[in-house]
Amino acid sequence: MDSYALDGDTSAGKDGSICDAPTTAEALFQKKSDQVISVSPEVEQKLQNDHVLVSEFKQMKLETDAQKNWDLFYKRNSTNFFKDRHWTTREFEELKACRKFENQRLTILEAGCGVGNCLFPLLEEDPRLFVYACDFSPRAVQFVKQNPSYNTNTCKAFQCDLTKDNLTENVPAESVDVATLIFVLSAIHPDKMHLAISNIYKVLKPGGCVLFRDYGLHDHAMIRFKPGSKLGENFYVRQDGTRSYFFTKELLQSLFTTAGYTEVSNEYVLRETVNKKEGLCVPRVFVQSKFYKPLQML
Ligand SMILES: C[S@@+](CC[C@H](N)C(=O)[O-])C[C@H]1O[C@@H](n2cnc3c(N)ncnc32)[C@H](O)[C@@H]1O
Repeated sequence: MDSYALDGDTSAGKDGSICDAPTTAEALFQKKSDQVISVSPEVEQKLQNDHVLVSEFKQMKLETDAQKNWDLFYKRNSTNFFKDRHWTTREFEELKACRKFENQRLTILEAGCGVGNCLFPLLEEDPRLFVYACDFSPRAVQFVKQNPSYNTNTCKAFQCDLTKDNLTENVPAESVDVATLIFVLSAIHPDKMHLAISNIYKVLKPGGCVLFRDYGLHDHAMIRFKPGSKLGENFYVRQDGTRSYFFTKELLQSLFTTAGYTEVSNEYVLRETVNKKEGLCVPRVFVQSKFYKPLQML
């Protein structure tokens, strides 16, 4: 495993609510791994003992209310919850690498953009982009459009359920160089993840790629879910009704390759953050991957 630059990430609050804790948590190190991160025997036991699932009725309601719950999340938190992703150096590097010539204007799709914490820093750093940005939550999209940096010459924001609404209604087919999926797939029911991945495939240019980052198996946020939060294997509900899946790289590989993508990279990223206030060392696990749409055969 080799260390590399630190970045910031979405993390979960004590009650399992999502939060970003830039002021209280400090990243100590970051490493990459090919293997699932092992946990202590006590944690393993805790995870094994947590086998009672939320009732089917409640699960159906959570699925029906998924959009409403994300919209309420943004109503409560406005634009203040996630910190701006100036950390997305990796994305910037990947974007640079996607250019076939120096001044090429790249077309990006930010799928599940939230209120634009990644989108606006990206546009600020690299004005030679056109970004399509979509989200499930109408309120989040509204926040994006109200941002003083929102400019229709460089960005088009629209509301969309990635599992239902055809992206080609807003984005021309095969027009996107790079799509980002950052902490979004984990919010989608595992049975529907393939729909979002195939939807994105349609708007990607042949040779275009998806940059993926999300929660990994055994992330701290998974371990601290209380009994009564489990929806299925590696799938949990937070107190606010939003849901979170914790990925293995094998599942991602299977989801993307089944949809026709080719894997470029797919690995666990481990970070350890220290919460100075509580004196806690918190191990975070994310999965970071890149898949591309193959060039068509002539
Ligand atoms: C944890 S937030 C991440 C937001 C943003 N990518 C970021 O990193 O700041 C998850 C986002 O996924 C969106 N989302 C969940 N399900 C979705 C779906 N089916 N289609 C589109 N967006 C969805 C939510 O509305 C929410 O904004």
